[in-house]
Amino acid sequence: MPAKKDKLKVLLRRTTIRQRVRQLARQIERDFKGQRVYFVCILKGACIFLADLLRELRLDTSVDFIAVSSYGKGAASSGEVRITKDLDHSIEGLNVIIVEDILDTGLTLNYLYRILQARKPRTLKVAALLDKPARRRKEVPVDYVGFKIPDVFVVGYGLDLAEQYRNLPDIYALPARR
Ligand code: IMP
Repeated sequence: MPAKKDKLKVLLRRTTIRQRVRQLARQIERDFKGQRVYFVCILKGACIFLADLLRELRLDTSVDFIAVSSYGKGAASSGEVRITKDLDHSIEGLNVIIVEDILDTGLTLNYLYRILQARKPRTLKVAALLDKPARRRKEVPVDYVGFKIPDVFVVGYGLDLAEQYRNLPDIYALPARR
């Protein structure tokens, strides 16, 4: 249960999320039948989505992690992103799927996509559990989307507010703060 449950409103229940993650797994299996897929998880928010997705997949998989931080407070507007933890291995020639929790302005993924594309993977795809298209500023080619959501701030299922709420099994909307 969330600590301040009165302020949070359930947006997506765990059963709904589980069902959708399963569907995404089937889609990925169809697209990569008989092949190995290298999952690149963007820390930290996507870790729960990655864990659930992986357990649904009947495919050969590898996992790696990348962490990014924005340049200062104004980073959301500048689009400048810095890699704070890089991948452990080369992705050259591999089928790579970037796993992201939420696609908001698109600045982070747009940057990461270009960086990873330059490393010459065989294929490069993007899986995002949530998509907030209303706030998009940079286009990102997303291949697997869990849910399109309205312009609300969400927490739970890996997503945080100042490191809080990541452990909630459902996804909640916070009251407007923008
Ligand atoms: P973007 O670069 O604006 O697309 O930002 C994506 C990142 O912002 C996500 O990976 C999250 O870490 C964070 N973010 C965006 N919207 C939310 C939200 O509603 N809840 C929690 N984190 C969010």
